[in-house]
Amino acid sequence: GKGEYDHYMKKEIHEQPTSLAQAIEGRIDPENGRIALADFGPGTFADVSSVQFVACGTSYHAALYGSLSLNQAGVHSTALLANEYSVAAPPVDDETLVVAVTQSGETADTLSALRQARANGAYTVTVTNVVGSTAAREADDALFIRAGPEIGVAATKTFSSQAVMLTLLGQRIAADRRGKPPADLESLLPDLAAMPDEIERVLESSDAASIADRYRGSRSYFFIGRGLGYPVALEGALKFKEITYEHAEGFASGELKHGPLALVTSETPVFAVFTGDEDEKTLKNAEEAQTRGAPLIAVCPDDHPAVEIADAHLEIPDTSAALAGLLANVQLQLVSYHAANFLDRPIDKPRNLAKSVTVE
Ligand code: M6R
Repeated sequence: GKGEYDHYMKKEIHEQPTSLAQAIEGRIDPENGRIALADFGPGTFADVSSVQFVACGTSYHAALYGSLSLNQAGVHSTALLANEYSVAAPPVDDETLVVAVTQSGETADTLSALRQARANGAYTVTVTNVVGSTAAREADDALFIRAGPEIGVAATKTFSSQAVMLTLLGQRIAADRRGKPPADLESLLPDLAAMPDEIERVLESSDAASIADRYRGSRSYFFIGRGLGYPVALEGALKFKEITYEHAEGFASGELKHGPLALVTSETPVFAVFTGDEDEKTLKNAEEAQTRGAPLIAVCPDDHPAVEIADAHLEIPDTSAALAGLLANVQLQLVSYHAANFLDRPIDKPRNLAKSVTVE
């Protein structure tokens, strides 16, 4: 049941310290600076030359997060919408790894992309929450995120666990290919181990409710980010539209000036996510929106330069650039939740949507 919480979504947002701890349990070894993904045999990914991620919705945002972080680790990768895969899939061969990211393991679009990739000779892995799901049975290998059941239609705790597991998988792929761990792994692992506590801090001190209240009744809500902040901006906007029924849009920060800036007014609050990926550029992009009258809400650590110019601040603890977006995402989940709550929306079961989409 929901226990002390009014909604499953809120419960599941608050479960993230636990669900993330479960995801990484036994899979990292910070003392020795190692990833211990016993889910795969030694050297499994040594021959992988490129990686394609296929997924839909929130899982696609996690996939994009994983793909960008893999590119940062020097491995060629792309994230593709599973529902576009059948019409224009990039070629695969036996050195292509195709990773199907799906919480339920039952999304029809994702299953057909997985089947197509497998039929064409790719090595397939699914990153899923459900043991025994179709994706887990059909993929060559499965990596379980161990988030526990997610009841709310809006995916929350499964997103953070997917993103973390994809980050780990990416580091493992990079290590297998090079025969040694990536250089930045040593600083990443302790930050990863600290994530459950950092998320707890965000949950305990968040100003998301007052910010959702302050910007109630706006015309549209924009979310921007760069690098790993970009999928987080997309996810922030998807969550917002899904449960509030208000218009929201996520953009790569640098894209604002290529068109969307025309929409910006004093009635379009801009949530800017800062993850340490060229933040100074994102800050300039955000300021351009603010100059056009948009309220600027900075999602960043307390000592960040964005705090000085922002109209409001959602604080996140300092951590690795590889993980900061996940703390920012928790703040954005809370903003959407409170905005939907003020509007009295049926948060756990938004109109027109189903938890598991089993048709193409
Ligand atoms: O079960 P899956 O992860 O494959 O589901 C994919 C999407 O249908 C899902 O993430 C959807 O976008 C959520 N309702 C978003 O909150």
